[in-house]
Amino acid sequence: MKIISLLIITSALMASACSSPAATTTAPATMSPPAITASPKPITPPGISVTPTAVTSPQPTPSVSIIPPVSTTTNPPVPAIDASALFKQNCAPCHGFNREGVVGPALTAAALTSRGRNTQFIIDTITNGIRNMPAWKDRLTQAQINALAQFLQS
Ligand code: HEC
Repeated sequence: MKIISLLIITSALMASACSSPAATTTAPATMSPPAITASPKPITPPGISVTPTAVTSPQPTPSVSIIPPVSTTTNPPVPAIDASALFKQNCAPCHGFNREGVVGPALTAAALTSRGRNTQFIIDTITNGIRNMPAWKDRLTQAQINALAQFLQS
């Protein structure tokens, strides 16, 4: 009887030993799939959702900056009569960037008034020059010279 009971115990131990490795094989099989599927899922959606936002925002910005050049090309006379810029480019070397006078005399409104210069004299002087003052009729348009005369008296 003792031998039979030992056989029963050993067979029961073997049966439990066989069932336990079966349980351990199912455990790692279920562990690995969720580890793979979990990591790519959170990375991909934010990566895609951020990129279109960054791409769409620069696109309206250049399209907005294209519109102002179109409106300025419709008004070419306006930049042509930028008298302040014309003076800095052409006259400031001899008359000073603040019209204070260098080689040529001061051309502030007060200085011109004190010498009794009117608009016509200023336009004639710029157009034809006088002594060391060069003529500008071949380099500036009549509209530019008129704008410069108005600018100097302001
Ligand atoms: C190369 C130097 C030079 C440049 C450049 C020059 N000027 Fe003159 N300008 C003179 C000189 C010198 C005189 C004085 C001429 C004289 O009366 O002997 C003068 C005189 C004048 C006068 C008359 C001032 C007065 O009360 O008698 C005006 C106005 C004038 N310049 C405007 C201009 C303008 C506007 C420009 C730019 C488009 C210009 N000048 C560029 C040298 C220059």
